[in-house]
Amino acid sequence: MRLPLLFATLTLIFSTAGLAGEEFQAGKFHQQNCTGCHDSNIYTRKKRRIDSLPRLASQVRMCDANLGKKLFETEIQSLTDYLNENYYHFDK
Ligand code: HEC
Repeated sequence: MRLPLLFATLTLIFSTAGLAGEEFQAGKFHQQNCTGCHDSNIYTRKKRRIDSLPRLASQVRMCDANLGKKLFETEIQSLTDYLNENYYHFDK
């Protein structure tokens, strides 16, 4: 009787893992997850705190930690690039 349940659980785990394997889309992720506490105006406000690319990356890391998404390093990178290309424009 327990087997079907186990099977269903495994299927669920594998399909979620499959989703995580899909290509990470920074713009979409940002729109869906990063605009809850602040919107994108914070990136262009006059007194913004971030003044370099490494600091931008560490801020993204901190906000990801707040969010509890536990992004991979490559995803942090891609989010950082996304913000840099669209808002910050630091030289690489
Ligand atoms: C749990 C709430 C929360 C979430 C969710 C969140 N942030 Fe933040 N974020 C903050 C706070 C608080 C600050 C600091 C605001 C301040 O200094 O006035 C901040 C600041 C920032 C800054 C710096 C803005 C500046 O001054 O230049 C960046 C960049 C940033 N967040 C990116 C992100 C990204 C990317 C995500 C999605 C992964 C995200 N945030 C999700 C709370 C959050």
